[in-house]
Amino acid sequence: MASTPLKLLLFLTLIHHLQSHSLASTLPKEALPTKSGYLPVNSTTGSAIFYAFYEAQNPNNTSLSETPLVIWLQGGPGCSSMTGNFYELGPWRVTASVKQNVEHLTLEPNPGSWNRIFGLLFLDNPIGTGFSIASTPEEIPRDQHAVARHLFIAIRKFIALDPSFKSRPIYITGESYAGKYVPSIGYYILKKNPRLPVSKRINLHGLAIGNGLTDPATQVATHALHTYYLGLINEKQKTQMEKLQTVAIELTKAGNWSDATDARSEVLGFLEGITGLATLYDFRRQSPYRSDWVEDFLKDPEVKKALGVNESMVFEGCSDVVGAALHADVMKSVKYMVEFIVKNTKLLLYQGQCDLRDGVVSVESWVKKMKWEGLEKFLDAEKDIWRVNGVLAGYVQKWDNLSHVVVLGAGHFVPTDQDVNSQAMIEDWVLDRDSFAIKKIKKLSADR
Ligand SMILES: *[C@@H]1O[C@H](CO)[C@@H](O)[C@H](O)[C@H]1NC(C)=O
Ligand SMILES: *[C@@H]1O[C@H](CO)[C@@H](O)[C@H](O)[C@H]1NC(C)=O
Ligand SMILES: *[C@@H]1O[C@H](CO)[C@@H](O)[C@H](O)[C@H]1NC(C)=O
Ligand SMILES: *[C@@H]1O[C@H](CO)[C@@H](O)[C@H](O)[C@H]1NC(C)=O
Ligand SMILES: *[C@@H]1O[C@H](CO)[C@@H](O)[C@H](O)[C@H]1NC(C)=O
Ligand SMILES: *[C@@H]1O[C@H](CO)[C@@H](O)[C@H](O)[C@H]1NC(C)=O
Repeated sequence: MASTPLKLLLFLTLIHHLQSHSLASTLPKEALPTKSGYLPVNSTTGSAIFYAFYEAQNPNNTSLSETPLVIWLQGGPGCSSMTGNFYELGPWRVTASVKQNVEHLTLEPNPGSWNRIFGLLFLDNPIGTGFSIASTPEEIPRDQHAVARHLFIAIRKFIALDPSFKSRPIYITGESYAGKYVPSIGYYILKKNPRLPVSKRINLHGLAIGNGLTDPATQVATHALHTYYLGLINEKQKTQMEKLQTVAIELTKAGNWSDATDARSEVLGFLEGITGLATLYDFRRQSPYRSDWVEDFLKDPEVKKALGVNESMVFEGCSDVVGAALHADVMKSVKYMVEFIVKNTKLLLYQGQCDLRDGVVSVESWVKKMKWEGLEKFLDAEKDIWRVNGVLAGYVQKWDNLSHVVVLGAGHFVPTDQDVNSQAMIEDWVLDRDSFAIKKIKKLSADR
C-alpha cells in the first residue's frame, strides 16, 4: 500500500544514469495515488491485479457516495494501465525537459486529468501485466471470459476497500485492445448482476472505448481504402494491402486464430514500411509516442515503493508473456457482447482522428454492422459539431445508449493529444450533459 511516510516522498529526487543522459524525477505528494496496491484474484495461487486509485480532485459536493468511479484499462494485449496513468489521463504525467543538454524526466500536473470530478482507478489487466502478479504463466488468461472473470473479482475487491465506494456509479473505460476487455467485463457484469444479491452487484452505469479493437476481421479490412484516400499509398499498394487483409480475414473465418493474428500484424507492418511513417498510431507524428518515459520512471525503486510495489518487480510497459498468452485471442470478435451491452447500458466509442490502427473508419466499419434495434436511428442521427471552450473539438453522434465521438487533433492516445477535450468528453458523457444530453423527443403539435 502507498502508506510510505509522505514526508520522505515530498521532495524526493531520483537520479538515474542511463547511457548519455540522466533522468531526474520528483514524485510530489499530490502525484501519489489515494490508494494503490494489490487486489488478489486467486487466493490459492496468490495472483493479483495491481491498482492505483485517485480520488476526485473536486468530489461531488452533494455527496461523495454519488461521485462516479471511472476505471481505466490499457490495451496491448499486455500493456500496463500505468501508461494511461502517467502518460495519458492521470492527474500527473511524466514529461522530459532538457537542461544543459541532459534529458530529465519530471512529473507535471495534467490539466485534462479524468479525476477532476470523478474517482479514477487504473487496473493492470490481465495478471502478468505491468505491476500485476501472475503466479505462473499458465494462469494468465488466454481468452476474454478468463479476463472478465479476474476483472470482476478485482473490481469487487476494490469496492470492498471503502464503504463509500459501494453506492458510486461505475464507468469502465479503456483503449485499443481494451476494445475487447471493456465489452467482456461489461458483458460479464450485466449477465452476472441479476443473479447476485444487490449487495454483491457491480454498480455499472456505462462503458467507453477509445480507438478500440473490437471486431478485428471487419476492422482489418479497412486499412487499404482508408490510407489510399489519405493519399498515403497508391493503387498498386492498395491492391497489395487488400490481398494481405484478405489473408487475415480468411484465417479468421477458418478459426486459424494464431496465424490470423500474425496476418493482421503483417498488414500493419507492410503499411508502416511502405508509408515510412514514424508510427501508425498517429500519421502526423514525426516520432513515436513517448510511453517509454513511463517505463523509465517506473523502474525506479523509490517510485515502486511509493506505489506499494515490491522493489524486485521489473516493470515493462507491455508484457510479451501476456501478449503471447492472448495471441490467439486477438482476432476474436466481441461485437456480440457490445450488442448486448448497448441494449442494457450506455456506451461511448471515441477515436482520435489520426490513428491508422483503430481509428474512425475502422470502428465505424463494425458499428454499422451491429445488430441492435437502435442502429438505424443511430446511423440516421445528426453528427453534431462538438466544441470545447468555443473551439472545434470534434463531432458527436448519439442515439439513445450509443454515443460516437471523433476527436480532432488526436491519434491513438486521445488523452495525451487532447487532454482538456478528452476530459470534457468523459465528464459530459458520464453526466449526460451538453453534447451528450438526453434529448427529449419533441412532442408533436397535437397537444398545443
Ligand atoms: C485459482 O487457481 C486454481 C489453481 O490454479 C484454479 O484451479 C482456479 O480455477 C483459479 N481460480 C480463478 C478464479 O482463476
Ligand atoms: C464542489 O465545490 C467546489 C468549490 O465550490 C468546486 O470547485 C467543485 O467544482 C465542486 N465539485 C463539483 C463536482 O461540482
Ligand atoms: C452529484 O450527485 C448528484 C446526486 O446527489 C448527481 O445527480 C450528480 O450527477 C453528481 N454529480 C457529479 C459531478 O458527480
Ligand atoms: C493455419 O494457416 C496456415 C497458413 O497460414 C496453415 O499452414 C495451417 O495449416 C493452418 N492451420 C490450421 C489448423 O488450419
Ligand atoms: C519482494 O519480493 C521478493 C522476491 O519475490 C521477496 O523475497 C520479498 O519478501 C518481497 N518483499 C516484500 C516487502 O514483500
Ligand atoms: C438503453 O438502455 C436501457 C437500460 O439502461 C434500456 O432499457 C433500453 O432499452 C436501451 N435502449 C435500446 C434502444 O436498446
